[in-house]
Amino acid sequence: MRRPLVAGNWKMHGSRAENARLIEALVEASDTATCEVVVCPPCVYLWEIGRQLKDSTIALGSQDVCAEAQGAFTGEVSAAMLKDVGCSYALVGHSERRALYREDDALVARKFVAAQAGGLTPILCVGETLEERERGVTEEVVGRQLDAVLALAGVAAFGRALIAYEPVWAIGTGKTATPEQAQDVHRFIRDRIVARDATIGGAVRLLYGGSVKAANAAELFAKPDVDGGLVGGASLKADEFVRICAAAA
Ligand code: 13P
Repeated sequence: MRRPLVAGNWKMHGSRAENARLIEALVEASDTATCEVVVCPPCVYLWEIGRQLKDSTIALGSQDVCAEAQGAFTGEVSAAMLKDVGCSYALVGHSERRALYREDDALVARKFVAAQAGGLTPILCVGETLEERERGVTEEVVGRQLDAVLALAGVAAFGRALIAYEPVWAIGTGKTATPEQAQDVHRFIRDRIVARDATIGGAVRLLYGGSVKAANAAELFAKPDVDGGLVGGASLKADEFVRICAAAA
């Protein structure tokens, strides 16, 4: 049985005051949460939020991580530093990083390895654009994104990682993949891992992301290979996010 997990990716939103209110509400609701809950605030707030989460069951994640362990990399933050301020998870290869900051499959694979080497559990994000879906190459694209990480990290590394399927056309657009569309790609992803190691493939948790809301979460999470969600906009509203987490339980 795979334990469901819901992660909130705040992207570049929030302030100390807004974060404090949001975290207070989430911590209050977390006592009854039966799924695992992770929040990924902007890097600069991690330490403070980590302290606010200290006695709670909510885990902390970063939105990105440097592929290098340390050194002259101005502006970057290493996995060990993220671990040091209380993170347990790191998103790697989010579509906004891939598209806006030109992160290619090879760099994403290095970030995945660096996250694990620094003691973090990577949440590898994969997904196709609208143009790619319409061309019928979704599996080719997602397969290529997965294979780059499998080649560098090895299948065993997926024993300590999650994968988030986020179709780019569904992110921040209000256009959610149907539960069937999500399930189809999740099945494809799981099969790809199972082909290399059945135990690891059967156990790896697959999150769906892209306009997840309280209103659509339950039907998405009901699919057999959807083990939770990676939530953007709706994770900034405490009551909405709590309802999404409840839907994953
Ligand atoms: P939205 O939930 O705002 O569509 O964002 C999804 C996402 O990119 C989470 O990482």
